[in-house]
Amino acid sequence: MFNFEYPLRETKIESELENKINLLKDYVKEVYLKSTEGDPKKEMQVEEFNRHNEDILNFVEELTEKEEMSPEDKETVKLAAILHDVAKFNAPLVKHGFEGAKMAETKLKELNFNEEKVQQVKNAIERHMGPIPGFMANEAKKWEEKTGEKIEFPRPKSTVDKLLYDADMLSLISLRGIQKILTIRENTDVFQEEDEKTAAKEGITVEEARWRSALKSAYEAADSLFTESAKRKAYQFLIEAEEFAKKSLNKKVA
Ligand SMILES: [Fe+2]
Ligand SMILES: [Fe+2]
Repeated sequence: MFNFEYPLRETKIESELENKINLLKDYVKEVYLKSTEGDPKKEMQVEEFNRHNEDILNFVEELTEKEEMSPEDKETVKLAAILHDVAKFNAPLVKHGFEGAKMAETKLKELNFNEEKVQQVKNAIERHMGPIPGFMANEAKKWEEKTGEKIEFPRPKSTVDKLLYDADMLSLISLRGIQKILTIRENTDVFQEEDEKTAAKEGITVEEARWRSALKSAYEAADSLFTESAKRKAYQFLIEAEEFAKKSLNKKVA
């Protein structure tokens, strides 16, 4: 006779996980929306954060296909990707990893994920801060000067940690990531001054100085990657970004 039990149970488990994944995605969006308090500037940031989270999930899916990983680990890194920036509004930038890990713990327990899974997701979220050395390390230094509090970022250890870190860094190295850095530099007084100073010192335009520092951040992020497949993808991104930079700077000169 036919044995229906095995395939039916598999399907049930899969759809249960899909269901929880969708609940987690909605949860992150809800947290963001609640934090905007109707501020239009923050609402725009929400869109950006949502897009970033989608990008990370896509990178994670791409990288997990190329790297050797167990189905269990693939599931864990997917959960971590969805939740990794949940605290972006609720905590200072340098602390969103720690705070996000706590929020993830509460939510995952609520959805009955087992202790081990919860711990692995928490670890990956706490260890996703980067690039280190580079931007995030500098932010921690500034934070210490301002508050006296020293922040030590735990570094990626497991395959899951490394994959999440790499996916997050790839979003910074992608052309969209670099363009985001350019916009931030153009609209933040301290960065604008920094780029003006570099331009005067090097005899280049401010636009060129801005591109240089954005590309520098992208190269720092690329240097800090762990997995081979992320390194390959980063290399392609950087070629693309260099070409784009050349084209848009030449256009300005012409
Ligand atoms: Fe983050
Ligand atoms: Fe992120």
